[in-house]
Amino acid sequence: MPTTLPDVCDRVLITEAALQERVRELGSSIAADFDGEDLRLITVLKGGLFFLADLSRACAAPVALDFLAVSQYTPGVGGTVRVTKDLSDDIGGACVVLVEDVVDTGLTVHYLLSLLRAHSPKRLEVCTLLDKPSRRIAEVPITYTGFSMPDRFLVGYGLDLSGRYRNLPYIASLRDEVVLR
Ligand code: IMP
Ligand code: MG
Repeated sequence: MPTTLPDVCDRVLITEAALQERVRELGSSIAADFDGEDLRLITVLKGGLFFLADLSRACAAPVALDFLAVSQYTPGVGGTVRVTKDLSDDIGGACVVLVEDVVDTGLTVHYLLSLLRAHSPKRLEVCTLLDKPSRRIAEVPITYTGFSMPDRFLVGYGLDLSGRYRNLPYIASLRDEVVLR
């Protein structure tokens, strides 16, 4: 397990202990809110993987998991979100929580909500571990938020820089000189 802070990072913003405590709280809230319902937690690969694994285990309720994958896009360059892996199970009539690692511009969640809505779930809510509200382009309804974050590029607990650092057990910010935007 990686323990030392990678040299591309400047500091840890959310410790492993703080992450785990907040994820337990979110799991309890979701379990209480969907008591007795057909609950599906759906996340977006690959970033949501770690959060979903912990969040689902913090839900003291029977819950089914499913996964979507979307293609990368570059905001402001006219790119669009495209689904590269669709759901495995029908969500018609089910209660769905879309679980995201981070909501940044909001474009991904905005697109995924319209896609999921088309399958007629009974309820559809968004749970994001991290929210970067200062960068929002598309307004999206978020029911469950782990942490509100500043406009920094973050890695760890699912978030990557070119595919790396997802397995850090904490959330760290990148050094300014590493961020290429
Ligand atoms: P959106 O801008 O809200 O559509 O977010 C799109 C995706 O960008 C997120 O699901 C992440 O995969 C990625 N992303 C946004 N902010 C960060 C970050 O700080 N670190 C790593 N990935 C990020
Ligand atoms: Mg993501």
